[in-house]
Amino acid sequence: MKIRKAVIPAAGFGTRFLPATKSQPKEMLPVIDKPLIQYCVEEAVQAGIESIAVITSRGKSSMEDYFDRSPELEQFLKEKKKLDFLQEVREISKMAEFVFIRQKQALGLGHAILMAEGYVGQEPFAVLLPDDIFDCPRPCIQQLTDAFLEFKASFLVLGRVDEEGTKKYGIVKPKQVSERVFQVEDMIEKPGPEKAFSDLGILGRYVFTPEIFEAIKKTAPDKKGEIQITDAIKLILEIQPVYGYLFEGIRYDAGDKFGFLQATIELALKRPEFSQKLRKHLESLLSLTE
Ligand code: UTP
Repeated sequence: MKIRKAVIPAAGFGTRFLPATKSQPKEMLPVIDKPLIQYCVEEAVQAGIESIAVITSRGKSSMEDYFDRSPELEQFLKEKKKLDFLQEVREISKMAEFVFIRQKQALGLGHAILMAEGYVGQEPFAVLLPDDIFDCPRPCIQQLTDAFLEFKASFLVLGRVDEEGTKKYGIVKPKQVSERVFQVEDMIEKPGPEKAFSDLGILGRYVFTPEIFEAIKKTAPDKKGEIQITDAIKLILEIQPVYGYLFEGIRYDAGDKFGFLQATIELALKRPEFSQKLRKHLESLLSLTE
């Protein structure tokens, strides 16, 4: 069954990015010239997703405006003959069908995904966290949707993490099935290096079967009162197999200030209009510090 729908949870407070996120959504912070959320929308669309539900909250309506038409701006750009911008602005609202669903309280990622139950219905679906920017030869979410088609089971994207990473991500206990596919035998949220089962961390892309919603409903809140998706996936493990896919490509944690800087510099170095200029500039900065 083809995956047609995606859910983008974007209702969190973005505390790691304060004060910038005090009055604007983290998901709208631009990396070069596009907001974070657009990177994952483009990734989903490239992977054949047709409809996207964004989970949003109070103070985040700029995301709805962003994916809507903007007739006044379009008229202005037309009159000024700025046709490239006009084309770019128009394309944004046409990329997919967009649905916005409110999460009234930020009760965790699991809870945010549960808000999409009515929208998703009884189909498998993709989840993309907009903090993670993936730069991959094949869109990261497509690596998962292709694997889903083969195995007909839920998939999590996995990346190799260092010791620091074991404190930041859920870690799986893997049973290797093929070069990049691992059956998940168990998982643990942010265990630290001593308790980590492996160096395979769960990053921000998932494909779920609809059973995930019942599992989330049965999941108790953690110590912070948040419903964690990792705990819900552990419940799913009891009734059906779940797999991890070791993605091919590069990933930036743009929800973190340093990761955001890395993403900005590295993606700019890959853009033809900036690459030479920026490289020269960075080299001159480095030679000054030597
Ligand atoms: P994060 O934990 O990275 O986002 O959740 P956050 O809570 O906004 O950021 P920090 O940790 O305080 O800096 C990953 C994604 O899940 C969404 C966030 O908006 C982010 O895109 N999320 C998180 C929700 O939609 N609802 C929640 O209750 C929690």
